[in-house]
Amino acid sequence: MSSINYAEKIPNNVNLVNDRTLQRALEHWQPHFLDWWKNLGPSDFQAADVYLRTAVSVDAQGWAQYGAVKMPDYRWGIFLADAVPGRTIGFGDQMGQPVWQQVPGEYRSTLRRLIVTQGDTEPASVEQQRLLGHTCPSLYDLRNLFQVNVEEGRHLWAMVYLLHAYFGRDGREEAEELLARHSGDADKPRILTTFNEPISDWLSFFCFTYFTDRDGKYQLKSLAESAFDPLSRTCRFMLTEEAHHMFVGETGLSRVVKRALEVVKELGSEEPQKVRAAGAIDLPTVQKYLNFWCSSSLDLFGSEISSNSAQNFAHGLKGRPDESQYEDHVLREKTMTLVVPEGEQQVPMLNALNEVMRESYLKDCEIGLKRWNRQIERAGLSFRLTLPSSRFRRTIGPWAGQPVTPQGKLISREEYEKRLPEWIPSEADRAFVHSLMRKVVEPGKMAAWIAPPERGINNLPVEYEYVKLH
Ligand SMILES: [Fe+2]
Ligand SMILES: [Fe+2]
Repeated sequence: MSSINYAEKIPNNVNLVNDRTLQRALEHWQPHFLDWWKNLGPSDFQAADVYLRTAVSVDAQGWAQYGAVKMPDYRWGIFLADAVPGRTIGFGDQMGQPVWQQVPGEYRSTLRRLIVTQGDTEPASVEQQRLLGHTCPSLYDLRNLFQVNVEEGRHLWAMVYLLHAYFGRDGREEAEELLARHSGDADKPRILTTFNEPISDWLSFFCFTYFTDRDGKYQLKSLAESAFDPLSRTCRFMLTEEAHHMFVGETGLSRVVKRALEVVKELGSEEPQKVRAAGAIDLPTVQKYLNFWCSSSLDLFGSEISSNSAQNFAHGLKGRPDESQYEDHVLREKTMTLVVPEGEQQVPMLNALNEVMRESYLKDCEIGLKRWNRQIERAGLSFRLTLPSSRFRRTIGPWAGQPVTPQGKLISREEYEKRLPEWIPSEADRAFVHSLMRKVVEPGKMAAWIAPPERGINNLPVEYEYVKLH
C-alpha cells in the first residue's frame, strides 16, 4: 500500500489507474500546473541539476530518495499516509463514530473552504520566494530553497487531488483558481495576507520557514485529526515533508546568529553599526525580523474568539494539533479566560480554539529561541532574542490595530507610531539586509553574513555541489 507507483504520468499511491475519470481530470490539470511552475516558480534555475529528495514511500523511515533532478522534471504526485484500520472520529459531537471516506453533504462547502485555504498557501510561498535564488548565500542554501519550493508544489498537488476526487465540478474549478490567484497580485491576490508579503531577502526566508511554515505545521496537524479521512491521510504525509522546511528556518537563523557572534568576537564590540560594517547582521536587526514574521504569522490562526472554529471542531472537521494529548475532546462544558483590551473575558472553550492553537504554536516557536539564546550566552553576551507578545501588531481579533509593544503593553498611539521602527525592520534595516544579498555559488563557499551549516544534506559534505548550474 505504501509504495508509490512512478510508472504513471502522475506518481501516486491512491490507485489512480482504477479511476479513469479522476485520472483524466488530473492529467488535464497537470500541464496547467507545469506552466505555473515555469512562469511563477523559481526564476532562472529550471535547467540546473538540483540535489533533491523525492518521496518513494509513505513510511516515516526511509521515505525519500536523493538525486540530481532538473526542477521541471520533479515527480510531483499524490501521496497519502496509510489508512489506520478502524479509525474513529477523535473529537467533537460525533466522537467515536467511524471516520468518513466521503464528504457529508452538510459539511461540503466548509471542508472545501478549509482545503482551498490550505492549498492556496502552498503555491503562494513558491511565488513569494521565486527571486531568492539570484542572491543565495551558498549552493547548500540554494538547494534547500528549491527543496522547499518543489515540496510546496507537491502540497498543492495534495490539496488539488482532494478537490478533484471529492468535490466534483466545484472542486475542479477551485483547482484552476489555485493557479489563477498570485501572491501580491492587485486583482487576484492569495487568500491570506502573510502570503502576499514579498520575501526578497534570505533573512526573511529563514524567518518565513521558521514561523510561517510552522503555522503550516499546526494547520496540517489539526487537519490530520479530521473526520474526513482522505484529508487526514493527506495531511499526515505532508507533515513528514514539512519538518525539513522548519529545519531550514531554524538552522538558517542559527547560522546568522553564529556569524554575528563571530564578528562581535573579532571586533570586541557588539555595536550594531560596527557589526554591520564588518558584513554581518547585528542581533537587534535579527530581533526585528523575528518580530515582523512572528506577528504576521500569528494572525494566520484567526480571531481569538471564533464561531467558525467552534463549529469546525464540534462537527469533527478540524481538531486541535495532537488532539489525543488532551483529556476532554468534546469541550461543551469548558471555558477559557481571554485577555482583551477591555479586560478579562470568559469564553466557551469551543470558541477559543484558535487561541489554544496559537498558544501551542508559540510554545513550539520558543524551542529555536532557546537554542539561539544559548549560543549568545556561551559567547558571553547579555543580549537575548525574544518572541513578541501575541498582542503585538495584530490585524485580526480583539487586539487588531491596538497600539501594543512587543512586550504586550498597551501604549498611546502616538508613542506606538514613533517607536514602531525600533521593533520591526525599518526601510534602512531592509536596505542594509538587501545590500548583503549577493549570490555565492562556489561549492562550499558561504556569504560573509552567514556561518556554514554543521553538516551537509544526506551525509554529503558541505562542499558538495548541491546545485549544478552548468
Ligand atoms: Fe506546505
Ligand atoms: Fe512548508
